[in-house]
Amino acid sequence: MFTQFFGLKYNPFCKEFNIDETYESADIKEFKSRFKYIQSSRGIFLLIGEPGSGKTTALRNITSTLNPGLFKVCYCTLSTVTVLDFYRGILMALGEIPSSKKVTMFHQIQQAICSLYYDQKITPVIMLDEIQMLSTAILEDLRLLFNFKLDSENPFILILSGQPLIRNKLGLSVNSPLKQRIAIKHVMQGLKKEETEDYLAKRLRAAGSLNTVFTSSAAEAIYSQSKGIPRLVNNLATSSLMYACSVRREQVDEEIVYQGQKDFDI
Ligand SMILES: Nc1ncnc2c1ncn2[C@@H]1O[C@H](COP(=O)(O)OP(=O)(O)O)[C@@H](O)[C@H]1O
Ligand SMILES: [Mg+2]
Repeated sequence: MFTQFFGLKYNPFCKEFNIDETYESADIKEFKSRFKYIQSSRGIFLLIGEPGSGKTTALRNITSTLNPGLFKVCYCTLSTVTVLDFYRGILMALGEIPSSKKVTMFHQIQQAICSLYYDQKITPVIMLDEIQMLSTAILEDLRLLFNFKLDSENPFILILSGQPLIRNKLGLSVNSPLKQRIAIKHVMQGLKKEETEDYLAKRLRAAGSLNTVFTSSAAEAIYSQSKGIPRLVNNLATSSLMYACSVRREQVDEEIVYQGQKDFDI
């Protein structure tokens, strides 16, 4: 196993990682600064990014920084769901027991949000991940669901997170009322070229490596193959480490990245 060969406690580039070890990329910093804005104004935040660009990580990271006495985070990841499933998902995330009727569930959601915000002084932060999966019917419904006091107040923060495809859906005229209500957005850009080397080094260090494993040229090769998309960076880093271990090389250079991708990448 390559972890043993490199003196690592675990694979630094595996999917499960400690959220406290989030790499503070320019992307994450910008996301956090825009989130500060929505934290004070409330309303709808749109987060867009290619698969693997770090959207879910950014949401988890924000969650870990919010005071639970002031914010209640409700995270829902969406697949192709019906309106009923969608309502049920939100209610469960809010800690409510969903009724079986659509109309009742609609009111249940609104009441739960109002009770949190007005009675308990806790702002609900509802995160809907993978919203590119949502049908036009649900997107239309979303606007009605998050309409309070004749649209004059925002007792919530709603984060809509999804792949760039969502832009097309929001561009449809039927969805323009929802689009107009988005207060701020952030588009994930991935790691910058100069950040990639630092990211690789930090994740290796967190897993217990004491040496510089990736050379600058290796980091550059990984960046150019991945365009800085963290999940692709992770896959390439893992395949490079596997290949380096198979040929007993302690350092990963550009050639090893290339060979690793050929031999081990899926
Ligand atoms: N800022 C970051 N710091 C550390 N790892 C990250 C960061 N952003 C993304 N990753 C890594 O990339 C993987 C994919 O990110 P993820 O947030 O799941 O992307 P998305 O939700 O956009 O598909 C994560 O599992 C994590 O390992
Ligand atoms: Mg995700």
